Amino acid sequence: MTDRVIPLADHRYAASVPRVPSLAAAPSGLLSDRLGRPLRDLRISVTDRCNFRCGYCMPREVFDKDYAFLPHSSLLSFEEITRTARLFVAHGVRKIRLTGGEPLLRKDVERLIEMLAALRTPDGAPLDLTLTTNGSLLARKARALKDAGLTRVTVSLDALDDAIFRRMNDADFPVADVLRSIEEAQRVGFAPVKVNMVVKRGTNDDEIVPMARHFRGSGIVLRFIEYMDVGASNGWRMDEVLPSAQVIERIAAAHPVEAIDAQAVGETAERWRYVDGQGEIGVISSVTQAFCRDCNRARLSTEGKLFLCLFASHGHDLRALLRGGYSDPQIAAAIAPIWQQRADRYSELRGAAGPGTEAADTGRRRVEMHYIGG
Ligand code: GTP
Ligand code: 5AD
Ligand code: SF4
Ligand code: SF4
Repeated sequence: MTDRVIPLADHRYAASVPRVPSLAAAPSGLLSDRLGRPLRDLRISVTDRCNFRCGYCMPREVFDKDYAFLPHSSLLSFEEITRTARLFVAHGVRKIRLTGGEPLLRKDVERLIEMLAALRTPDGAPLDLTLTTNGSLLARKARALKDAGLTRVTVSLDALDDAIFRRMNDADFPVADVLRSIEEAQRVGFAPVKVNMVVKRGTNDDEIVPMARHFRGSGIVLRFIEYMDVGASNGWRMDEVLPSAQVIERIAAAHPVEAIDAQAVGETAERWRYVDGQGEIGVISSVTQAFCRDCNRARLSTEGKLFLCLFASHGHDLRALLRGGYSDPQIAAAIAPIWQQRADRYSELRGAAGPGTEAADTGRRRVEMHYIGG
């Protein structure tokens, strides 16, 4: 057998080991960053693998058979994830989203959900515990996820047309199976089920109105996402972004809509409803209308690095602390200043510099979406 050089996958992004303060103040739940933003939402990537190869996220040319995904030993265990989540809840997190890659590929993920569902806020309330999936395995797993205590689910779906969908997932996966998953998610009682569609001009923008029509009146909240320049692999170009204003125009021409108020501060989506009462849609416009001002989201990578922005190139290695013999109060005290020093607002800076420019680019390698999750 010949030796093969395996790149050290878990050193792929720069990260530093947080300093543990000698005096550990107990978490107050009131952390605020340098722009006055609280910490409310933790997105946890449970695997960097996916069975799809969406061009905007994991293009097949880059994520091919030679791509070095993380070895199992690098992944945080369920116990380590739950321990970290508990510390973030003490710091003010109220919503946890599991992502990937494709989170349902992580073995026994329902056991992790059970563990996270048992967490309580300092007031004794359960968390909003949700998951983003491509829907390929959801029909099979929806019941178990619901029983484990998952409160909501969001399914990614970029087209109703089977040929377009197969081309976009680049795994020849049929749309009918995802639609069945969405139905099953509703049937087992997730409410509301959300569907996320990434819009790429010239690729699936003709699917906007058919998608809107399909989900109108179903109780499902369909959200249209502007194609983002996340990561470094997708070859993003501004001319492939269809501004959300045009998405709304196209839908309104067929079915009139009106804007409605946000449900919570810091929401990603701007909400609209059909005037005839057939439900709600949303648009997520991080390219044309950045929403960094109220961004309260932290991200934990599959291997336990904390990232403060989707466009970050530098993480904070919490796994080193989890495996370094530190106590919960010590790790909580190490997390606090990281959030307090946060000033990230990538989309806003890029927007201010004008479309197509990369104002905030540091020249360092930006983190990929499949690694820290959407
Ligand atoms: P709900 O609580 O269910 O409304 O979910 P959400 O809107 O917080 O999260 P979801 O994961 O459904 O987000 C949808 C998409 O918005 C993601 O897949 C990303 O494309 C984008 N997105 C989410 N968070 C951020 C963020 O902090 N910054 C940017 N630029 N985009 C984001
Ligand atoms: N632009 C916008 N959204 C993206 N996602 C992944 N890559 C991108 C991108 N380049 C989001 C989509 C998908 C989820 C898993 O991640 O919302 O549904
Ligand atoms: Fe997989 Fe979701 Fe990325 Fe598509 S967008 S490749 S389904 S993680
Ligand atoms: Fe938050 Fe960064 Fe997204 Fe702005 S670009 S909303 S700071 S994650």
